[in-house]
Amino acid sequence: MTKQELCQTAVDMLKMAYVPYSHFPVGAALECDSGEVYTGCNIENAGYTPTNCAERTAVFKAVSEGHLKFTRIAIAATTKKFCAPCGVCRQVLQEFAPDLQVILVNCDGETLELTLKELLPYGFDSSYLG
Ligand code: THU
Repeated sequence: MTKQELCQTAVDMLKMAYVPYSHFPVGAALECDSGEVYTGCNIENAGYTPTNCAERTAVFKAVSEGHLKFTRIAIAATTKKFCAPCGVCRQVLQEFAPDLQVILVNCDGETLELTLKELLPYGFDSSYLG
């Protein structure tokens, strides 16, 4: 899948977001090392803390289907400001893809490319556990 297709897949997921509280939809498209792409959206909850971000929805869908390695993720929001993944999502992404490429897509279709290592330097991982 091209970068543009991956970004469009993330944008297409915006309409699936369940966001009655924040009204802040986020869409994600996660590419596995096999080339398959798993999608995600944010899913909110009246209890607020059970809310699941778009990125984690995509990771959990993929891992539950047997995929453990990822190459790229596109994350789309409806704002001009790029939506960077939250700290919890950065940690979850690092577990499976420390070398992940992260592509942020804004409401104008502009993109900002980062690495997960830039977003989560000195992250805690299994190497600390001995
Ligand atoms: N959210 C995501 O889905 N991904 C991010 O990268 C940041 C925040 C969601 C969580 C919540 O549903 C809404 O955006 C506002 O925080």
